[in-house]
Amino acid sequence: MSTEKTPVTFASSFERDIYEGLTADPKFLYSKYIYDRRGDELFQKIMELPEYYLTRAEFEILRTHRKEICQIFRGSKGFDLIELGAGDGKKTRLLLEELDKDGAAFSYIPVDISQNALHNLEAKLKAEFPTMKVLPRQGMYFEVLQQLSSYNSRKKVIMVLGSNIGNLLHPQAITFLKNIESSMNKSDMLFMGFDQKKDPQKILDAYNDPGGVTAAFNKNLLVRINRELKGDFCTEKFRHWECYDPESGTAKSFLVATEAMEVYLKKLDLRIHFKPWETIHTEISQKYDDETVTWLANQANLAITETFTSTEGSYKNYVFKKQ
Ligand SMILES: C[S@@+](CC[C@H](N)C(=O)[O-])C[C@H]1O[C@@H](n2cnc3c(N)ncnc32)[C@H](O)[C@@H]1O
Repeated sequence: MSTEKTPVTFASSFERDIYEGLTADPKFLYSKYIYDRRGDELFQKIMELPEYYLTRAEFEILRTHRKEICQIFRGSKGFDLIELGAGDGKKTRLLLEELDKDGAAFSYIPVDISQNALHNLEAKLKAEFPTMKVLPRQGMYFEVLQQLSSYNSRKKVIMVLGSNIGNLLHPQAITFLKNIESSMNKSDMLFMGFDQKKDPQKILDAYNDPGGVTAAFNKNLLVRINRELKGDFCTEKFRHWECYDPESGTAKSFLVATEAMEVYLKKLDLRIHFKPWETIHTEISQKYDDETVTWLANQANLAITETFTSTEGSYKNYVFKKQ
């Protein structure tokens, strides 16, 4: 064991998760903690990178099929559009504009772990669509999903864009889908984006830009730990490393210690030892094919009712209903 463990009490799930991740062997950190103000900004930069094809592919699907998608969303008594991990809502805006233009009766409930992202999104939408009912909810998917069953008076459309599900390994993705399914009624639907398996080089490039934006995005975990837990991580002593396994479709991001070091987190009174080239696993970005998406859906008692594909076939959005 390379790290000293002392019994600690935790003031938040952030503290507990960081402690558990950095005292584990091998070490890991959850990617959801990348998203603070700086993390949100870096992700917006990532979405503009020429290598990061995901945003453009999903944008193209929503722009091309927005009428049909909005038609599928609409219910006779109106509906609640609940978006999990909404981020800056740039793509969602296309659908909101269409629904607004059509005079659809709906409320938009963006959910995100990042209060900063929700604050910016709400301000943008209020300025552009002053009469739209926007009800942001800060929290983690699983917490908020438990409260979703209270939205039961009319149809619910649950939306997850950006292949956010790809941050979960298959067993966790199934739990995520099961949670969503259990909050759904027969007429409700789930609209979700899944990045597809493709040329492995294209996937590697998307998470490994030469300008280092993705590296800074991953290292933001260490910056945040330094700030919030009074840590002394030296970010230059970590190298961002990406790999992709074309068989499983799993892209994995790591921060690799370039030398032996000791890091101290004052707030947790935790000393963490790193051997040279020791890793911290920071993110997974799972890639899919139709068979895998169908299998995941079946595991959660969901059925695919519609599929929208980007021109190059590199990205798909699926509509799911309860089986
Ligand atoms: C990859 S970004 C995608 C944003 C947006 N869906 C898009 O397609 O542009 C992921 C978003 O999900 C949020 N997020 C990540 N993990 C989360 C979790 N466990 N619970 C709630 N939000 C989460 C992040 O704060 C971030 O805004």
